[in-house]
Amino acid sequence: MRTLAFLALATALSAQTPRPGVNYDEAKAGGDSLPDLKLTTADEWTKTRRPEILKLFEDHVFGKTPANLGTPKFEVTATKKDALGGLATRKFIHISLPDRPAWQGMDVMLYLPNDAKGPVPCFCGLSFGGNHAVSKETDIPLSTRWMRESKEKHIVDHKATEATRGTESSRWALEMILKRGFALATAYYGDIEPDHADGWKDSLRAAVSKDGADTVWKDGEWGAIGAWAWGLSRIADYLQTDAQVDGKHLAVIGHSRLGKTSLWAGAQDERFGFVISNNSGEGGAALMRRDFGETTAIITKAFPHWFTKTYTRYAGNAAACPVDAHMLIALAAPRPIYIASAVDDQWADPKGEFLSGKFASPVYALFGKKGVVAQEHPAIDQPVGDFIGYHIRTGKHDVTDFDWTQYLDFASRHWTR
Ligand code: GCU
Repeated sequence: MRTLAFLALATALSAQTPRPGVNYDEAKAGGDSLPDLKLTTADEWTKTRRPEILKLFEDHVFGKTPANLGTPKFEVTATKKDALGGLATRKFIHISLPDRPAWQGMDVMLYLPNDAKGPVPCFCGLSFGGNHAVSKETDIPLSTRWMRESKEKHIVDHKATEATRGTESSRWALEMILKRGFALATAYYGDIEPDHADGWKDSLRAAVSKDGADTVWKDGEWGAIGAWAWGLSRIADYLQTDAQVDGKHLAVIGHSRLGKTSLWAGAQDERFGFVISNNSGEGGAALMRRDFGETTAIITKAFPHWFTKTYTRYAGNAAACPVDAHMLIALAAPRPIYIASAVDDQWADPKGEFLSGKFASPVYALFGKKGVVAQEHPAIDQPVGDFIGYHIRTGKHDVTDFDWTQYLDFASRHWTR
């Protein structure tokens, strides 16, 4: 009993404990004055304004994704027709770049429902732990591409190990996804770039750069989020070649830093017809001009490698940045997008995540579509929205079955209408 009471107290404290210098007072959050979306017509948005905003995100936040890295090669390395007790077919696909052999490539794990009558829509997302962490199946190969340990104490080491087998399975609702007629394609973000300050030395970014691991990180060049987002687009490339997948119905999903990544992937790659940000917070769906929870100053100090170098200029000076998160959400328009927050994830600024959807909604209106619909931050566990879905769920920073239920409902609603 005492242990349980202590655990409950510790959880409550960790969610609420103010970190020094971090504001959790809504009255002091500010951020009321946002960069203007400069809306005219849907046509003008598509032809001019959208590309301008995309470029601003390249130049100031995520860096430019290099073009022409060569045609990716896909090799189906294993197929298991009776995965998950016969519910699914599981495939592994190795994606590599023959023109850039210095990159070790990535292994996509694809689960397809066995009772499908034809090609199925597919959710695509990267995992923190690796393919073997996503599924409870015990025969999944371990990635060995994360070679150095993280030296920074504040960065959780996400190196794939035997100990992390199955540990992320509660975040992937695999059986629910498959039973509702969807496929899931996932890969390990560490195959693209190990996530710590020196990780880029063993990453795609170093492998494709002219100077290799001696590259100096420059203004406007891509950071780790850009590289991870590139990986998601290569998964989409493969999925469009797989006859069992409906390549016209691909969703991109990510949690936390990988939610920032799914937003950036969805912004750049319009083949993702549905974009999902799960608890993405600062640098993702949360308005950066609001001083609530994590800020630009904190994130650029703790995780500079996620962004382009230029972004560090906005530490303590977010108002000088020519973009804010409502514009990142707007880059998904007119495609459906979903933003999810959690009550005990104040670090990610749930209200700032809601407001970015609210302020992106006028872009959807240009296309005759309704965005987030609610004017005020909705009640807990009450999903709202039409083309921009939003909810704030009970609980902590995580991906839960409640979150997946909303994403699957949203996809079913949009993809059948
Ligand atoms: C840290 C970081 C967040 C990030 C999160 C995660 O908390 O400050 O910006 O979203 O890690 O990716 O888990």
